[in-house]
Amino acid sequence: MADNKRPENMQRITTEQLAQAFISEQLELLRKQIGESKVLLALSGGVDSSVVAALLIKAVGKQLTCVHVNHGLLRKGEPEQVIEVFRNQMNANLVYVDAVDRFLDKLAGVADPETKRKIIGAEFIRVFEEEARKLEGIGFLAQGTIYPDILESGPVKAHHNVGGLPDDLQFELVEPLKFLFKDEVRVVGKALGLPDSMVYRQPFPGPGLGVRCVGAITRDRLEAVRESDAILREEFAKNGLEGKVWQYFTIVPDFKSTGVKDGLRSYDWPVVIRAVNTRDAMTATVEDVPFALLQHITQRITSEVAGVNRVLYDLTPKPTGTIEWE
Ligand code: XMP
Repeated sequence: MADNKRPENMQRITTEQLAQAFISEQLELLRKQIGESKVLLALSGGVDSSVVAALLIKAVGKQLTCVHVNHGLLRKGEPEQVIEVFRNQMNANLVYVDAVDRFLDKLAGVADPETKRKIIGAEFIRVFEEEARKLEGIGFLAQGTIYPDILESGPVKAHHNVGGLPDDLQFELVEPLKFLFKDEVRVVGKALGLPDSMVYRQPFPGPGLGVRCVGAITRDRLEAVRESDAILREEFAKNGLEGKVWQYFTIVPDFKSTGVKDGLRSYDWPVVIRAVNTRDAMTATVEDVPFALLQHITQRITSEVAGVNRVLYDLTPKPTGTIEWE
């Protein structure tokens, strides 16, 4: 019976070790697939593309070129974090494209949500294509496709796909995460040394803050979305709600109301706070945020964010409201 006794010195197998085994296997497969060629990756800074980048940096180093397109609709601090983590800490080849004016000029005056999405998607492909053409010897295109993308949509989901590139830029795909679920991607990201703020971040739509600046986007209202979102995230993190609430953000509608600021009447925008929980984003419930915290966040937003005089809390579950406002 001695054979059936677990050896006393045997260590427990940890998730970390399993992640390291997955990483070792993928590094070998990636090196075999890519050989001496070069790989291109659109790096948004989201969990999936960040984990793909970290894997490829380990596997093929400078044979990888990451392109980070700043379309002006990212959250506060995101482009800076991508540059800090990937260029400064991981020493990656990172092309940072400041396309803010280009996107905002194209979006000026466009109020229809689906047209806004189409413009953002099409412009993204165009910027990425221009960058791809500047590079030589690219043989592969890496993508952060994960298993739910394959299960849900047959073909790869739009936000993980730089599909739509012209025929002469059709590279062989590299998709090392395509059989992983999101929680597994996070474990791998953590094992690769990515910061928690990148690995455990909440879902963020491809069109970014663009769908939270309701109607036609203006630069000042977009700043109000970005600044109020940063305050909300900071307060949720401070109060233990980060990682507990599935998705939380602010929206700035395109209407104003009367208020009083510094003894004078103001005519400014409201900020809407949305905080929801869900399993699959098909239905969602509203988080019961402590009232005192909502009051504190209201105080901060109305005093720190330019052009805002009211804060509202969206109490609507999905259905009837979608999670985003557009
Ligand atoms: P809704 O608003 O439809 O959102 O309840 C469900 C989830 O999907 C995200 N979302 C998007 N993600 N591109 C994306 O990549 C989009 O155009 C888009 N629209 C919504 C939303 O943030 C939520 O997590």
